[in-house]
Amino acid sequence: MPNACSDTEIRVCAAGDLAEGGLGVKVPVTDGSGRTTAFFVRYQGRVYGYLNRCAHVGVELDWEGSFFTRAGDLLMCARHGATYQPDTGLCVGGPCKNGRLVALQVQERDEAVYWTPAGKIQPVAD
Ligand code: FES
Repeated sequence: MPNACSDTEIRVCAAGDLAEGGLGVKVPVTDGSGRTTAFFVRYQGRVYGYLNRCAHVGVELDWEGSFFTRAGDLLMCARHGATYQPDTGLCVGGPCKNGRLVALQVQERDEAVYWTPAGKIQPVAD
């Protein structure tokens, strides 16, 4: 029986576009209440994707695509310095305490990164 909610993958970027601890790739999305972005990064060899919304005030985290701390070990909000674990999205410092980023379903295969949108977070045209 076909799945009524069949998944439609989005090709985010080439695998090589995400460097370890480097700049993220942003994709325009809607979260059901308005337009924002999702972002994708590489950490310890794996790719991760999150809704680009800080758990503190709800603004985008990055400054011009930069999501990592200088050390490359945490994601950091450019607004007030909240920090998140790159592999779980859990807040580990700053004003986002007990919050977390909304994780997206991401896969890397065949030299590319794919996102499978689910729920209210869906891609929108540029
Ligand atoms: S909005 Fe991100 S730390 Fe305040």
